[in-house]
Amino acid sequence: MAHLSLLRKNSFKRLFSASISRRSAEEETPKQDGSLMHENIKTLDIFPVTEQCQKPTWKCFSYEEIFEATNGFHKENLVGRGGYAEVYRGVLKTGEVIAVKRLMRASSDEQKVKDFLTELGTIGHVHHPNVSALLGCCIDNDLHLIFEFSIRGSVSSLLHDESTPPLGWKVRYKIAIGTARGLHYLHKGCQRRIIHRDIKASNVLLTANFEPQISDFGLAKWLPSQWTHHSVKPIEGTLGYLAPEYFMHGIVDEKTDVFAFGVLLLEIISGRQPVDGSHLSLITWAKPHLNEGNMKMLIDDRLGSEYDAQQLERLALTASLCIRPSATWRPSMSEVLELLEKDEMIIERWKMPDQEEEEEFWGFDDLECDSSSSISPLNSSDSS
Ligand SMILES: Nc1ncnc2c1ncn2[C@@H]1O[C@H](COP(=O)(O)OP(=O)(O)O)[C@@H](O)[C@H]1O
Ligand SMILES: [Mg+2]
Repeated sequence: MAHLSLLRKNSFKRLFSASISRRSAEEETPKQDGSLMHENIKTLDIFPVTEQCQKPTWKCFSYEEIFEATNGFHKENLVGRGGYAEVYRGVLKTGEVIAVKRLMRASSDEQKVKDFLTELGTIGHVHHPNVSALLGCCIDNDLHLIFEFSIRGSVSSLLHDESTPPLGWKVRYKIAIGTARGLHYLHKGCQRRIIHRDIKASNVLLTANFEPQISDFGLAKWLPSQWTHHSVKPIEGTLGYLAPEYFMHGIVDEKTDVFAFGVLLLEIISGRQPVDGSHLSLITWAKPHLNEGNMKMLIDDRLGSEYDAQQLERLALTASLCIRPSATWRPSMSEVLELLEKDEMIIERWKMPDQEEEEEFWGFDDLECDSSSSISPLNSSDSS
């Protein structure tokens, strides 16, 4: 605790009292591991702006405000618990409904501050209809991030919660397209290359009209434009969504997210978990159907014939390209959007040489784990 208060006194004071300014090119350089320069907060551009010269879009909340809004963090307001945080629903005095993310379970106070700054430093810079909107933060009595409340919860709960009716095809398709747009924005559309590193169904939230929003930037990394990739240790993320080169060698770039997006597409189509109790990964189950072009076999049984066959073809084909073992043969998110949205799909372009095609996928089938295991330095289990 002493350490946290020390960090607070120094780092946070500078963080929140600093005037809004752009960083110099030198200051923008991330550390070798690609993470933000948390140690040198003075150089960290965590200001409540989304674009240069724009007015601040998020603010600091007082602890009293969020305490009152969540009815004292009452357990009835607990709406989600992930590997790193608890999330509470709250209502501000203005009537605005918020989600308060309270960081938990970090290995140390220092790690907690690091996680907080990573998420704040990334999400505080992004602004897109398919990315969760940050409203602010609160640093009194623990570290909190405050978001707009996503009334429909996560894609994971809607897909896998057996007490709710199955998600209709139209909504599934909308989720696929919207998530692709959000991810494309993170990779290409915002000021820096952002690799999310934990794209999965529980990290995609839904607005009232089922617009998907990518959330949970706790593992996100910036990639300097001149870097081809970046090596990460330890490897964190969620089993079933991890690209082979990331899981085996810690290599991270945009294609890490593309792979996870491919798994998410299969999950949306089939309603199956990426890794389930049967030790058969979603990829291993889907591969034979994808290889034979028998896309109808992938569809969630609960949908019966209530789906659009052409849209299914598109989603399934795109998924099959995204989960290719070789990152170079995976499409970029710009290409994914073309595949999903362009009138004409040029499939020939994606044909691989025969010897590459034979490469075996490194699956997760031998791993003893439940459907939602996260891997992190803490080996925490993540239900979100
Ligand atoms: N803005 C929000 N609105 C509604 N529910 C949310 C919101 N943010 C998070 N949640 C719920 O809380 C869960 C955990 O949040 P998340 O940010 O993913 O934390 P963690 O980093 O621990 O995984 C999510 O899967 C979701 O169910
Ligand atoms: Mg999460």
